[in-house]
Amino acid sequence: MKKIIAVVFLVLLIVILIAMGSIHISSQEKNKVERIKIGVSVYNQYDTFIASLMEQLKSCAVQKENETGIEIIVDIVNAAGSQLEQNDQVEKFVNNGYDVVCVNLVDRTDPTLIIDKAESAGIPIIFFNRELVPEDLKRYDKAYYVGAVTIEPGIMQGEMIVDLLKEKKESVDKNADNKIQYIMLEGEAGHQDAIIRTEYAVNTIVENGIQVEKLDYALANWNRDQGKSKMDKLIEEFGNEIEVIISNNDDMALGAIDAYIDRQKLENIPVIVGIDGTLTGLTAVKEGYMYGTAYNDDVGQGRSLLELAYALKTGQSLPEDIVMTEEKYIRYSYKKVTKENVDEFISIHQ
Ligand code: GAL
Ligand code: CA
Repeated sequence: MKKIIAVVFLVLLIVILIAMGSIHISSQEKNKVERIKIGVSVYNQYDTFIASLMEQLKSCAVQKENETGIEIIVDIVNAAGSQLEQNDQVEKFVNNGYDVVCVNLVDRTDPTLIIDKAESAGIPIIFFNRELVPEDLKRYDKAYYVGAVTIEPGIMQGEMIVDLLKEKKESVDKNADNKIQYIMLEGEAGHQDAIIRTEYAVNTIVENGIQVEKLDYALANWNRDQGKSKMDKLIEEFGNEIEVIISNNDDMALGAIDAYIDRQKLENIPVIVGIDGTLTGLTAVKEGYMYGTAYNDDVGQGRSLLELAYALKTGQSLPEDIVMTEEKYIRYSYKKVTKENVDEFISIHQ
């Protein structure tokens, strides 16, 4: 009798174990990710650098889809400079079951509603390019930031000007007064990049023992047309006094070049430095209109947005070459570009 009970018990146990196993297997199958929906809201879809970052994100998504067989949907919407619009867009992503939301904040001081909305639904949120303050990012454990090392490109611009001065003083200090008369073209007021790039570029020149004289500055919102119209006025006012134009990005630097081309004053064009290394920016470096730029790694940042979104949804870890610090930040270094190495960067974008 005891033996029979023992056998029945054993059989039952085996049946239960098999059942548990198969339940386990089927629930794993159910959880297997078949599709990832990523919703992205950008502050302005016509911004050149942001547009090329989005191209990188989309092409990485296609590549990942081919590699993994997981369908990856990337929907990009334009907040067109309105934080209210962006809040609505994020709310829609959350309500429509998107897995990860990526946000290029319009107003980097105002992420509260967006964070609250994502947090209440438990959806991860990746901010990028327009950096919010650390206190805001820390409020939600599933909030991240993908961007660049903010202080680098200003320092690089400063160093490029210092190096050129050492090499060919007369091509920079045209009036030979041992001072650099410069114009600063700034991105948006309050943008972390605009503030820090401006400060570090000038400080780097000064720290190298070179005197500077700021003729004027102009805000041109990262935009080529605005860069041109601001420079039109400044050329009228300062003419040949301008020795250097330090621009917070390539597009505004290109606007400045447009202003000189318009006036056919190219023989006296100042030394112009930009930031981003967009294809048009790089071309201007190659052609000698722009002295140099600092390459803002759109390829790396676009790929990180995609890989982080993928890791967050599938629970897998990030590729080894993508480094996250403080469990929240992924940052890319800039690279100095002048005529000597410009071809290397042009080929990245072709
Ligand atoms: C900067 C970039 C600018 C502009 C801005 C938008 O990093 O250099 O060209 O795209 O971001 O936030
Ligand atoms: Ca001078």
